[in-house]
Amino acid sequence: MKPKVIVTREIFDDVLDYLRQHFDVTDNQADTPMDAETLAKNLADKTGAMTTLVDRVDAKLLARCPKLKAVCNMAVGFNNIDLGACSSAGVMATNTPGVLDDSTADFTWALILATARRVVESDAHVRAGEWKGWYLKQFLGADVHHATLGILGFGRIGRRVARRALGFDMTVLYHDSQPADAATERTCNAAFVSMDGLLSRADILTIHVPYAPATHHLVSGRVLSKMKPGAILIHAARGGVVDDAALLEALRSGRLAGAGLDVFENEPALNPAFLAMKNVVLTPHIASSSAATRHAMAMLAAQNLVAALTTGKPPNLLNP
Ligand code: DGY
Repeated sequence: MKPKVIVTREIFDDVLDYLRQHFDVTDNQADTPMDAETLAKNLADKTGAMTTLVDRVDAKLLARCPKLKAVCNMAVGFNNIDLGACSSAGVMATNTPGVLDDSTADFTWALILATARRVVESDAHVRAGEWKGWYLKQFLGADVHHATLGILGFGRIGRRVARRALGFDMTVLYHDSQPADAATERTCNAAFVSMDGLLSRADILTIHVPYAPATHHLVSGRVLSKMKPGAILIHAARGGVVDDAALLEALRSGRLAGAGLDVFENEPALNPAFLAMKNVVLTPHIASSSAATRHAMAMLAAQNLVAALTTGKPPNLLNP
């Protein structure tokens, strides 16, 4: 008898076929979101689960899933999983690091350029039939080239964002809990600065830290008030790192010129005040969503599940 596993949302057919070679799989190719109760009922008799970042895996859920041995998230972020609770319940938890770094860095740049050069706003203008002709002060934006890029969080994704700045002749500054090694700084053409230095000097500040209790509202009203007047904020990391209400205030007051946002507090129920702001580019948490990368994420999660339940040694174990 093959172990029973569940995949909580739709995945690619070939990844499902791969899982079916090893497991008795309950799929959700209809892609129906599951609330906590439905998730608990569906997991109750399963040995493994492939989850998404919206599936909350905590002690309450685990208490109802006595057979569960592995939870494999299709995301690098794992703030939906209580690792301590998993360890106490003898459940292995995994994520998908590495495979989405370049796509997420590409998308960060899409937000940088779209926000600074008002791409979405001017597209809407043309579509609405409002374009009456060329004039000098039309949709004046901010130059990206030769500007100062500030990167908060200099891990795999932050470093790739930095490398892409080379072609724009930017000054690249970063802040993290500690400086990177000299070779990395050279490759990324980036210099470590204090948090205050980053905030006061960056024309464009982009955030690349994971969400955890320690990073909740890391970018608070106080932090935003230290940013260079007229700067742009880019956020494609995780909702909750930025205090969205404070960000709205900074945008309303004109302290910030604009923001490019792919993640929000309480997704998908973002603060509706964002919708009315023309200087904000809004996307629905898709920074990693190239076809190749989302496939790689699903396949890596599947490989983690197979390894977890066959060898007990998944490559991306979070709670050894
Ligand atoms: C991740 O992998 O954490 C991303 O946010 C998924 O889109």
